[in-house]
Formats: sequence, C-alpha cells, structure tokens
Amino acid sequence: MTEVHETKKGRGVMTLAIPGHRNGTRAVTLIPGDGIGPEVTNAAVEVVEATGVKVDWDRQLAGASALKRFGNPVPDDLLASLKRTGVALKGPLETRVGEGYRSINVYLRRELDLYANLRPTLGFAGVHTPFRNVDLIVVRENTEDLYAGIEHQVAPGVVESVKVITARASRRIARFAFEYASRNKRKSVTAIHKANIMKLSDGLFLKCARAVAREYPRISYNEQIVDAACMRLVTDPSSFDVLLLENLYGDIVSDLCAGLVGGLGIVPGANYGERGAIFEAVHGTAPDIAGKNIANPTAIILSGAMMLDYLGYPRQAARIRQGVQAVLRAGRTMTRDLGGKANTSEMSAAIIRAMRNA
Ligand code: NAI
Repeated sequence: MTEVHETKKGRGVMTLAIPGHRNGTRAVTLIPGDGIGPEVTNAAVEVVEATGVKVDWDRQLAGASALKRFGNPVPDDLLASLKRTGVALKGPLETRVGEGYRSINVYLRRELDLYANLRPTLGFAGVHTPFRNVDLIVVRENTEDLYAGIEHQVAPGVVESVKVITARASRRIARFAFEYASRNKRKSVTAIHKANIMKLSDGLFLKCARAVAREYPRISYNEQIVDAACMRLVTDPSSFDVLLLENLYGDIVSDLCAGLVGGLGIVPGANYGERGAIFEAVHGTAPDIAGKNIANPTAIILSGAMMLDYLGYPRQAARIRQGVQAVLRAGRTMTRDLGGKANTSEMSAAIIRAMRNA
C-alpha cells in the first residue's frame, strides 16, 4: 500500500503494508474522541466522503467517553476494530493531568507499534503569522523515551521516571525520517537532542541517527541541541526541513511548530507502523471550546487527506488540500482561532464547496 504526501518541496511515496480493500469500500475505524473530537471528526468524515471515496466507518469510543459508557477507556471492541481495519481516523482523547488512567494515545501507539509520528507543518496563504515559507516535517519517535510510563516512588518525596532509549527504536525512526526525506525530495534532516546532558540516552539516539545518515549521502544531516533548536525555530523556521526527535522533544516541538503556522487548529498528523496507521490532529480535546461548534476542523480534515494518501487515493487527498488552501486563501470562512467568524460546520461546508469548484 502506498502513502503519498504532497508538499511544496515535492511529492513522494512511502510504502507501508496495510490490510486490503473489500468490494471497493475501505473499512476505517473512526474514533470520535473527547471534547471537540466528535465535532471535528464529523467534519472530517463529511469532507472525506465528499471526495467520493467509499469508506465503511466503524465508530468506536475510546478515552473519557468510553470510560463513561463502558467503564473502560480502551474497550476490547476498539482494539478488535483497529486490528481488523488497520487504519483509524481519530479525534483527541482526554488524559487527566497527574492522576487517572495512563494516556490512551500512548497506549494505542505502543500497543499497535505505531512507531513513527509524522506532522507536516505547512504555512498557508491567508493565515497571518510572522513567518513566510514554513514547510517543516516533524518526525517523532512514538514508542519509548520518558513516555514508556516507568515511574515509581523511591521514598516519600522522591520519585523516578525512567527514560528508555533503544538502538532498535532509534534506528528505525531515523530510517523513517531519511526514507521520508529521500522520497519526498527534502534536503536535510536535523536530529534534535540534549546529548550534552543525557550523554547515554540521547547519545545513543544520535549515534543511530548518524549511522543511518551515512546511508543517505544526498540528504544533508545535522544536529541541534533542543533548546537552541527551539530558539532557531521561532526566529528562522525556514532554515529547517525534516526534524527528527525522540518522543518527549517531538511532542513539545510539534506544538511549537504548530504555533509558527497559525496554531493547533491547522496541523495534521499520522502515526505509522508496519501493520497500520492512525491519523489524528496534533491538538487535544480543547475543553475550553468543546460543544460550541467553534473548533477549527482543518487539522483533522488534513489528517483525513493523509489517510486517503495512505489508502491509495492521492488525487482525492490532493483535492482536500486544494479545498482547504482555497478557503484559507479567501479568508471569508475561517474559525475564530484564525481570526474569522465562521463555526466548525460553516468552515467544513466551505471546504467541501471549494473542493467541488476546484
Ligand atoms: P489542546 O490542544 O486541547 O488545547 C490547547 C489550546 O488550543 C486551547 O486553547 C484550545 O482551545 C486550542 N485548540 C486546540 N485545538 C483547537 C482547534 N481545533 N480549534 C481551535 N482551537 C483549538 O491542549 P490541552 O488543553 O493541553 O489538552 C486538553 C486535553 O487534550 C488533555 O486531556 C490532553 O491530554 C489531551 N490531548 C490529547 C491529544 C490527542 O488525543 N492526540 C493531544 C494533546 C492533548
């Protein structure tokens, strides 16, 4: 199966194995999620359907909504559906701060071994930011680091969190980044780290990245310490191309990059493994605006486009991107986070109209 991602710098193909189609209809697990999740995923479903691709959506609850309904934030039916379809479009899931069950996002990514998180961060004409020509690809390792969830109390008032970095996971995420760069005609990969302090763990991550880099002589490879990289990102983002990060730095830097192009409402994402993929926006459940029909649906709509690429529908995916670009460029039907007055449904309807006119 083929994943094609279009960017300003080129177009390329990522080969990933997923289960096949049935009778021309593709089964996809749909996880509406918590907070703004149901509002924005509904919008994405309408936009995907407007492309004409036939999708058999298998709706499954997860997270806080599943806990409320079934007493379990990861119901067996959800896992069975994900194993059956191999592909999901997912809204954000709530994870309580400092208490409650472990992150279901982290659980699903590890359970399904979706080791590569890809977040293309592209500036759009019509979305006003201090920066021009931002076109970054964030590649984040998804399965280990401090997110391994190994925490314990050593003594009262003393706790430890264990950072796990392995050569295997570091090599395969580095290979994903270079393979992506090579197939999408990107020029450079920057590994972002703190190996000056975490000499063993981040040191191993860098050693693996360097070894993989030697196999891709056409792609320039460089390294930046994470604090300096953040400063450079907010002063000169166009000096970066593909960013390669461990799990925690990747999480933080993804949101920072979203801020460069207009916020969390417009940056899509995907989690890829050898046997499947989950497509989701970078943003969370946005409890402050949930249930008001004012969330920006663009991020999950663009995640839907990445899903269509993965399923082998690059033309339809491109139409979604054209529709989004046209609506943002025109600037008349944008949600409040982008300075507009439209609501979620009005913005997704405008995107569908723009796709039809494209
Ligand atoms: P958040 O991304 O939900 O919200 C941060 C800010 O961005 C808020 O002001 C929110 O209104 C705004 N925002 C986010 N998405 C938006 C959209 N589509 N349109 C307009 N404005 C938008 O981050 P926060 O508040 O830190 O997390 C809330 C919950 O979401 C937590 O339980 C967290 O664990 C969860 N979360 C889940 C993720 C996932 O499922 N992939 C990712 C990030 C957070």
